[in-house]
Amino acid sequence: MTIPVEIANTIIDPKAYADGDRIDQAFARLRRESPLEVAQPDGFDPFWVVTRHADILEVERQNELFHNGDRSTIVTTIEADKKVREMMGGSPHLVRSLVQMDNPDHFAYRRVTQGSLLPQNLRTLEARIREIARGFVDRMAQQGDRCDFARDVAFLYPLHVIMEVLGVPEADEPRMLKLTQELFGNADPDLNRDGKVVTDISAGIDSLQSVVMDFMMYFNAMTEDRRANPREDLASIIANGKIDGQPMGHLEAMSYYIIAATAGHDTTSSTTAGALWALAENPDQFARVKADPSLIPGLVEESIRWVTPVKHFMRTATADAELAGRKIAKGDWLMLSYPSGNRDEAVFEDPFSFRIDRTPNKHVAFGYGAHVCLGQHLARMEMRVLWEELFARLDSVELDGTPTRMTANFVCGPKSVPIRFKMN
Ligand code: HEM
Repeated sequence: MTIPVEIANTIIDPKAYADGDRIDQAFARLRRESPLEVAQPDGFDPFWVVTRHADILEVERQNELFHNGDRSTIVTTIEADKKVREMMGGSPHLVRSLVQMDNPDHFAYRRVTQGSLLPQNLRTLEARIREIARGFVDRMAQQGDRCDFARDVAFLYPLHVIMEVLGVPEADEPRMLKLTQELFGNADPDLNRDGKVVTDISAGIDSLQSVVMDFMMYFNAMTEDRRANPREDLASIIANGKIDGQPMGHLEAMSYYIIAATAGHDTTSSTTAGALWALAENPDQFARVKADPSLIPGLVEESIRWVTPVKHFMRTATADAELAGRKIAKGDWLMLSYPSGNRDEAVFEDPFSFRIDRTPNKHVAFGYGAHVCLGQHLARMEMRVLWEELFARLDSVELDGTPTRMTANFVCGPKSVPIRFKMN
């Protein structure tokens, strides 16, 4: 029995993610009635929808049995998949970053940057990140008693941090933000390149490819520069990284920059914006964390669970397998639904409540296993430091209008969070 078509159409509908409740209800129903089942929305190949926390971990743990790169890593229509394969000489991907790789390449490419993103190496960055955070808090104070926390702070602060880590000059940050929003907001007429409502994924592929080409042109020049004049930045590590003693492939190097320059801020921005939205709606939680900064790491973890900015990744079975008593066939496509895993009633008590003291809080928002988010420690540190700086000065916060979310089904979160506040 497959998932009813109206639910199948909902779980891939960018507007359902913008709505919030609609997507939560669809996944709650699936967890209750058919936690691991096949969906076939109109125009799509069938795929398994993995909704339970335990099953997501089980798939992620077995990265040789469930591959990333064999088919598209994000859900796509038959038509759009055909178009990408035509453009890319048979490959189902527009880029080839860690996300699209499997072993042995995945291990070899991940090793190039992994060390520099470990907590012990990030510690040296904390003082500089604090300075950046303080700058944004000062700017917020100068705005008076109102701002759009998403646009004025949350979109810009993680952008500035990752661009400095990467080595992109400040003057190019608006361009990087725009390109990122065009990439992840391809279905959102406020954000995409053509400013149009995209009703069909394949019609948006050309504009997606033109965004990727713009990124590549930018980073190609940067690679040449860092090969000639290496510096202390991530761009130099990527440009001079070796795989089996040879320089990285061109597509792979470009894709490495693109993932760092996009996933490296948009996810953290969404989480930061969503956290303040949740605090404004839960004044008791705000009062607690303001009074006791030792609760900040708990707030960070809960807001990552709450927002879950990466909505899914796809995997492909490399052999026949059994999962939660169901028979998965070789070649089957699976959707790992992180937002569903993070609202799983079997793991989280009262999952639809925002609780900064939730312990344990073993969410799957960063994924798990071999592909687990490479930037998780940086993301946590950025948010902790911002909240430490902001709560020292923020006396009160409330919503000043209705927040909105991006129309997208892959990486997304709040688009606007208007607030009224008092600062000391
Ligand atoms: C992978 C989420 C921040 C870089 C991932 C994955 C998720 C994720 C779900 C896929 C994991 C899997 O397949 O198991 C998030 C969230 C973030 C965040 C929720 C912030 C709250 C960052 C930052 C960076 C980053 C700041 C940049 C340094 C990456 C990279 C991968 C990745 C390079 C690919 C790893 C691989 O396939 O081996 N992230 N991410 N992310 N993330 Fe993040």
